[in-house]
Amino acid sequence: MRNRRAALAAIAGAASLALTLSACGQSGEGGSKEEAGDSKGGTIGISMPTKSSERWIADGKNVVADLESKGYKTTLVYGEDDPDQQVSQIENLITQGVKALIVAAIDNKSMNNVLQQAKDANIPVISYDRLILGTPNVDYYASFDNEKVGELQANYIVEKLGLKDGSKKGPFNIELFAGSNDDNNTRYFFGGAMKVLQPYIDKKQLVVRSGQTKLTQVTTLRWDGGTAQKRMDDILTSAYKSERVDAVLSPYDGISIGILSALKSDDYGSKDKPLPVVTGQDAEVASVKSIIADEQSMTVYKDTRELAKVASNMVDAVLNDKKPEVNDTKTYDNGSKVVPSYLLTPVSVDKTNYQKEVVDSGYIKASDLK
Ligand code: GAL
Repeated sequence: MRNRRAALAAIAGAASLALTLSACGQSGEGGSKEEAGDSKGGTIGISMPTKSSERWIADGKNVVADLESKGYKTTLVYGEDDPDQQVSQIENLITQGVKALIVAAIDNKSMNNVLQQAKDANIPVISYDRLILGTPNVDYYASFDNEKVGELQANYIVEKLGLKDGSKKGPFNIELFAGSNDDNNTRYFFGGAMKVLQPYIDKKQLVVRSGQTKLTQVTTLRWDGGTAQKRMDDILTSAYKSERVDAVLSPYDGISIGILSALKSDDYGSKDKPLPVVTGQDAEVASVKSIIADEQSMTVYKDTRELAKVASNMVDAVLNDKKPEVNDTKTYDNGSKVVPSYLLTPVSVDKTNYQKEVVDSGYIKASDLK
């Protein structure tokens, strides 16, 4: 009932938005031109998860720009981390007659019904960054090599601790964090990391003092930094009385910042109590600054400009009856089918290479890091 009411309200909202837009010649948050008669390529609906993280803001902007450069119009919506809201936004896009959808899902299992509606309306769907599960109505998947992301994080930890080259034997204390349990990427990041870490845990060269090693024990709903901070606080209080934590596997920069806050509140980072190795992902400005300040140790840089290009090219190909370029047709089984994918390569970034990778490449402006 609540959902239905929300959907109706959203449709009413969309209708009035459509009126406003036709009056001012804009199409939603994408802000693209929508002049009467200019229908080359039609409108593409883009559904992003949240504006609370800068990467998704950049993803939205980049996809819009790429599609516009190909002659499409765009409507870009953000679900603000609320799966119901995202689903009704996509319903609205379908009602508005978009020609294709690009979706970065909040809850990967919430899309069954709405994507059936897309299918019935003959609208192709590109799953963006996060694979949508449990429905055959996903045409292509544009992402990064997600398992590699976890491997890069874990390899960084074992190298920095000196375990990899055998120069140190440990034991070292490590704590493990994973992303949101409703995001399919979470298990790939964690799986990739544990492939590297598990042998050291088995040999007791790495010790998880909290005892929390299973994915179900270490996830962080909606990738929330505050939730991670609280969990790290609790772990420090309960499992680290006289011991020190030497490394923390963190899957995402927002989570890393939360973990670092908890550590700093417990005096880590002071003269006698160095901060542990802390990983991350997304090369967000706050984390790159933290890396420069010797707090967060590394991040995994994924050039979302390239991801946006891949997704836009997929849309353009599908709408022109061409086969989009894919480079993986095996890995991403969504429970209903193996979704043909194009996977980009993630890059490990720390203080030694951030300048080359994220500044010289134009991903982050040097002035934003001051
Ligand atoms: C994942 C994504 C990561 C990170 C995280 C939190 O799906 O692959 O790069 O952005 O969401 O937003």
